[in-house]
Amino acid sequence: MGKFEVLNHPLIQHKLTIIREKQCGTKVFREMVNEISTLMAYEVSRDMPLKDIEIETPITTTTQKTLAGKKVAIVPILRAGLGMVDGVLNMIPAAKVGHVGMYRDEKTLKPVEYFVKLPSDISQRQLFVVDPMLATGGSAIMAMDMLKKRGASNIKFMCLVAAPEGVKALQEAHPDVDIYTAALDDHLNEDGYIVPGLGDAGDRLFGTK
Ligand code: PRP
Ligand code: URA
Repeated sequence: MGKFEVLNHPLIQHKLTIIREKQCGTKVFREMVNEISTLMAYEVSRDMPLKDIEIETPITTTTQKTLAGKKVAIVPILRAGLGMVDGVLNMIPAAKVGHVGMYRDEKTLKPVEYFVKLPSDISQRQLFVVDPMLATGGSAIMAMDMLKKRGASNIKFMCLVAAPEGVKALQEAHPDVDIYTAALDDHLNEDGYIVPGLGDAGDRLFGTK
């Protein structure tokens, strides 16, 4: 089974509370999602492997550490995942960025796929799939299906708010995927929204609706 971690650093919790408040406007919402994503990327990258390299300082030759593992690709699930990309890039600026587009049909709550564009070497990369909300898990599961069909195997999923239902569904469908969230909330309501949650992340990020 992959990892499941709630990243409850005080700064992450504080900023998450700000965006949960319904009075929080688009500008601050975007800024906070960006900052939380940077803090989360720092935590999520803790297990990146290192190797020794020999370098020359102005004083001497020395053996020091450098990143060794697979190169990273960030894959936002459109639309709301876009809000997390720059924050992760702040920590891993050389990452490539792929996109998977899907929306949740409001009646069936089932995800509908509409776009995929990925780096050609996706199978060689460590993927950070980002989406602020893990609700029923349908969108994340479909995104993982799409990525694996194209050769991806090394996947970390980052979200801001998860429902227990979504975590269970994603773990059952993709037990190899590591899941990181800033909060594990209580439950889903009858409309498929996370409670207490933060509402519709895409609408709040982009000022739609
Ligand atoms: C939201 C969210 C996730 C999905 C989560 O996207 O960003 O992708 O819902 O729900 P699930 O776990 O039940 O699938 P939405 O469908 O609202 O699309 P948007 O990002 O374009 O607003
Ligand atoms: N998608 C959202 O944006 N918010 C939720 O609470 C559930 C799904």
